[in-house]
Order: sequence, then structure tokens, then C-alpha cells
Amino acid sequence: MTMFRGAVLDTPESPFAGGKLRSSSDEGILVRDGVIVGRGPFAALRREHPDEELVTLDGGLLLPGFVDTHVHFPQVRVIGGIGLPLLDWLEHRALPEEERLADTAYAAQVAADFVSGLVTAGTTAAMVFGSHFAAAVETLFEAAAAAGLRVTSGLVVSDRNLPAELLSTPERAHEQSTALARRWHGTGRARYAVTPRFSLSSTDPLLAACAAVLDDVPGAFVTSHVNENVEEIEQVKRLFQTGSYVATYDRHGLVGRRSVLAHNVHPGDDELETLAARGASVAHCPTSNAALGSGLFPLARHLRHGVAVALGSDVGAGSGFSLLKEGLQAYFTQQQLGADGYALTPAHLLHLATAAGAAALDLPDVGHLSVGQRFDAQWLRPAPGSTYDAALRNATGPDDALGITFTLGSATDVAAVWIDGDPVRLVDRPRRTG
Ligand code: GUN
Ligand code: ZN
Repeated sequence: MTMFRGAVLDTPESPFAGGKLRSSSDEGILVRDGVIVGRGPFAALRREHPDEELVTLDGGLLLPGFVDTHVHFPQVRVIGGIGLPLLDWLEHRALPEEERLADTAYAAQVAADFVSGLVTAGTTAAMVFGSHFAAAVETLFEAAAAAGLRVTSGLVVSDRNLPAELLSTPERAHEQSTALARRWHGTGRARYAVTPRFSLSSTDPLLAACAAVLDDVPGAFVTSHVNENVEEIEQVKRLFQTGSYVATYDRHGLVGRRSVLAHNVHPGDDELETLAARGASVAHCPTSNAALGSGLFPLARHLRHGVAVALGSDVGAGSGFSLLKEGLQAYFTQQQLGADGYALTPAHLLHLATAAGAAALDLPDVGHLSVGQRFDAQWLRPAPGSTYDAALRNATGPDDALGITFTLGSATDVAAVWIDGDPVRLVDRPRRTG
């Protein structure tokens, strides 16, 4: 067993339902076989277990690992391509790069960069938007397995309105998706997600093929995009002769407890009702929405309807892998909405980046650091002499420390990450004694 000692913050109870930030400035966490088997004030826990290996996390904060509910593996190399709205950005920036993943050796390099980008940002689980090429998706699953990352991912399928190289057919989409799912769904920490790119690039027969994969693969997830950009939404409603973007997926049975739909910046009340009734989750991607000018996410309306919301980095439209930045931008977005905005606190931001993501990805054993949970965690330790370091040392309490962390922290401050109790990345090894 290993005992971790540090300042721990987490949100086992949702602050959206009255829960408070849980904090301890000197906490002990005892981990056996990846599972937290003891937790409490360090001095008392140490007295009970004086001989266990001790990992002392001096300074900074121990947080649950982040859960990124929407991030595109083939878009690592288009991060920062700002200046265009969604449909132009897809045409000129994202899709030309995604075509390059037809080259599997290139895809493997991108997959390695992608997985290390996630882990070094403190992310321990993710819903990953895959590639249109099955061999490239293999490289992603392999890279994630090598790092130990919890990924849910799949083949991206489309059969219209994209460059020809990225198009499939309903039959081929079904065949390639089920083959990938057979190999990876439930293998190690991997799970499969049926992934139509968005309704704009899908016909009804393609969405029906996606539903057939879902039937063939018990426990598979669904992920896609919805209601992101006004022009996109108009085109979808025209193509499908419907007033509801959500309905284009729902009529095929693609909206359920294990569905994660990204963006939903411009939903109708009827669509929010459907999402809530199905138990589906929305991945809120605030830096992407800001970068593409997609709009201001109506969080309060989602919450009023009871729709589950978590955070997604949406790399590469989003501006990087750190969910600290997404949390801060989520806060800014609600501020910009004025009276229509939801007053997010630091505890809300942590919850959105951790336990809410775990709920969206149906990972009940991660997202907070209670006894019985798996030890997926990150140690944020500010660089000595940095503004973050100075601010954190002068924090007035745990909520202040967390607000400072979302504002001044970044991936470079992530000193260590554990998944199932195993260290994934250690820049400076924590001091080990005992
Ligand atoms: N809609 C369809 N494809 C994409 C994508 O790659 N990024 C974003 N932000 N929206 C999309
Ligand atoms: Zn996306």
C-alpha cells in the first residue's frame, strides 16, 4: 500500500446540488491496488498505518484527475488556428489535417503527441473524438493503452458534405466500427464510442448504421456534435426537414445515458427536455466556443432542465488540453451572459472538470478521492517564484486557492499524474520516505 500526503481538494457532492468543496490542507490517502482504502487527516491516518510507503506532496494541491469529455485526437496540430467560424475552420484548418491521418505512421505520431498532451495536462480520462481512418483509431487506442489513459473513442463516420477522402458508406461504417469495437471495447481501460461526426455530414442511413453498431456492442457510447453554430444548425434543419437538431440523432436511438453531445450552444427548450429525459450529457467546450465565435453556452437553461453538463477541451478548435483553462473560460462565459449567466464558483469549476465528467462518461469509480474510488489524481505544484506560486501561498482559504489555480495554473504546473494509483508522468519525483 502507498500513503499520499498533501493538500487535497475535491467535490464528491455536486455544488450544483448544494455540495461544498471538500478540502484538507494535510490529508492522508491510502491506496491499495489502485483503490483508495483509507483517507483522513494525515497524522491520524499515519498513526494507524505507520509502515506503509509514504509519498509526500510538498506544496501545491492534490486534485482528482481531470475528465475531458470532448477532445479530437487528429487535431493536435491545428491548435491555435484562430480566425474562422466553424464551417470555414473545418474546411480550411481541421479537415485538411484530418486527411493526413490516412497515413498510419503519421497517425501514430499524432496519437503519441495527443496522449501525452492529455496526460501532461492532468487529464486521466477522456471521451476522444477519433479519426475517419480505422487504422488511425487503432493507433490512438494503442497509445492510450501504453500510457494507461482511460479513453472512450471510436471511428468517426460520415457519408456526405465532407472531402471525399473522409467519407464512408453506411455499410462500411458499420463493418469497420464493429471490428474496432470488438477489439477495443472493454479491453483494459478502453471503451468504444459510436461517432457520427455531426448530422451535417450524415444521412439517415448512416445514422441508422450507427444505431446498429450500438445494438451490436452492448455498453458502447455515442458521441457527436450538436447545436454548435447558427449556420450549421440552419443547414441541418433544412437537410433533415426538422425543427430539432437533437431529434436527428434521437429518432435513431442515439441519445441515451451513454451519449455525450458536444457544444449545444443554441438549443431549443424541447431539445433540452429530450436530452434530460434520455439522461444524455452535454460537453461544454468554452474555449472552442469563444475561438470559433459559436456563442455563449446557456448553462443555466441546461441546469433548469436537468441536463448533465461536463467540460471538454475540444482540441483543436479549443485552445489546449488544460481543463484549468476551460474552467476559467466557462466562468468568463457565464459572466458575459449577465443576468442570464450562472454564477460559477471555483468548486463548480472543479466539479465540471472532474466528477461531472466522470458521470458523463459513466465512470462511477473516478472523479473524486473518496474511500472506495480509484486513485486517478494529479499533483499541481506551481513553479517556485511564479505568480501562481506566490498567489497560492497567500490564498485565504481552499476556495480562494482553487480560484487562483483555475486562473493562474496551467499544464506546466502538473508535476505528477496517477491512474489507478500508478504514476503516469513524474517531472520531479515526489519525495519518498518510509
Ligand atoms: N462539428 C463537426 N466537426 C467538428 C469539429 O471537428 N470541431 C468542432 N468544434 N465542431 C465540429
Ligand atoms: Zn468537437
